[in-house]
Amino acid sequence: MIYEPYRNKTVEPIRLLTRSQRKTSIQAAHYNLFNLRSEDIYIDLLTDSGTGAMSDTQWSALMRGDESYAGSKSFFRLKEAVNSLLGFEYFIPAHQGRSAELVLMSHFVGKGQISPGNIHFDTTTAHIEFQGGTAKSFVIPEANDPDNMHPFKGNFDVEKLEGFLKTHSKNVSLVIATLTCNSGGGQPVSLENLKDVSRLCKQYGVQFFFDAARITENAYFIKTREAEYKKWTIRRILRACCDLADGLWMSAKKDGLGNIGGFIAVRNEGLYETLKKYTILFDGFPTYGGLAGRDLEVLAVGLKEATDIDYLRWRTGQVAQLGMWLEESGITCIKPFGGHGVYIDARRFMPQIPEDQFPGQALSVYGYIEGGIRSCEIGPILRGRDPKTGKHKPGLDLVRLAIPRRVYSMNHMRHVADTFIALKKSAGMLRGMKFTYEAPLLAHFSSKFDWA
Ligand SMILES: Cc1ncc(COP(=O)(O)O)c(C=O)c1O
Repeated sequence: MIYEPYRNKTVEPIRLLTRSQRKTSIQAAHYNLFNLRSEDIYIDLLTDSGTGAMSDTQWSALMRGDESYAGSKSFFRLKEAVNSLLGFEYFIPAHQGRSAELVLMSHFVGKGQISPGNIHFDTTTAHIEFQGGTAKSFVIPEANDPDNMHPFKGNFDVEKLEGFLKTHSKNVSLVIATLTCNSGGGQPVSLENLKDVSRLCKQYGVQFFFDAARITENAYFIKTREAEYKKWTIRRILRACCDLADGLWMSAKKDGLGNIGGFIAVRNEGLYETLKKYTILFDGFPTYGGLAGRDLEVLAVGLKEATDIDYLRWRTGQVAQLGMWLEESGITCIKPFGGHGVYIDARRFMPQIPEDQFPGQALSVYGYIEGGIRSCEIGPILRGRDPKTGKHKPGLDLVRLAIPRRVYSMNHMRHVADTFIALKKSAGMLRGMKFTYEAPLLAHFSSKFDWA
């Protein structure tokens, strides 16, 4: 058993509506869980992004926020945290991950260019496509098998990547490692694999960047699953990973333990100067990048707290406990359990529902009706359509139960497990869904649905 390495100082009431109230709210939300009001939700596992609880140290740091437009003390405190933990000299704040992506892709991606990655997150793909490029996945084949116990299912297929770079490197400016791999089940990338990819990038003269939203959770998996690094501290592993990259960006709403914020960090001064121009255009002066000084302070503390081994052991342990409860009851989840959430295989949960009736979306809706739980489809709707064929991009159809950091107790997780276990008992009766409106870009956020 794993125990919380913190105690509560503030509480926020939550309530479970009646079943008929839940049915009414989800219908009014057009069966899209993004449209629900948070007060109508009992356990909110929509995302682990920006939903964590801050520590007392972070709340204290908030008061130190220096709101100067330029050159604020808070900027330099966060810069120091990024320099000392990650080792990059140049640093630009961004208001969240996707605004960092807009800055980076505006520079790196042109029409017809291809950006290889393990599996890009949806906003990353959207920003690459927005610039006229294509995101191409090079994840190992084990990633597509929910039962495969490979410890690093976020790894690149190095041979395949090399074959591609041999013939296409002229069209590639940026290789992206997403740590951990959100769209693949929160699966980590090993340090050995990062070394191989870094070597290839150098050989073929392309830049290697991390999408580092969950880089400390990734470091924890390296420590616990890669024998060579068992004795290393999280900070040493973090540094060893970062030393392999030309730069990174981070949605700091995850492992930055902040409710908002992000940043870009690079080694090269020339690149930094170029990126700064985009930040000024899109996000604000480069010492605040769309954030308040108090947000910068919170992240400077949060980044350091996220490297605490007790915290990481609890965090990943809570995710694994929920996963084990579900698996014990015959619900197939992606294994090994990832860093920030449990991913249920919706097609196996309800095999009678055809793929084009979106079992993942349907199961998320049922989770709300049954237990007031908000989850998120990570499947065809989130991946979107291939711009060339117009068909939904292939892959697994999952329901992600993303666990906010330091927010819910193990009892809350028990309620989540009991809800899906109850649904499993009547899974054969459950129905699929259809679009009543399909939003053209990032469809999962704003599309509308009904029962098929
Ligand atoms: C891996 C990854 N990259 C990028 C993003 C985008 O970050 P943001 O939501 O802060 O814009 C997310 C958000 O969930 C993510 O998980």
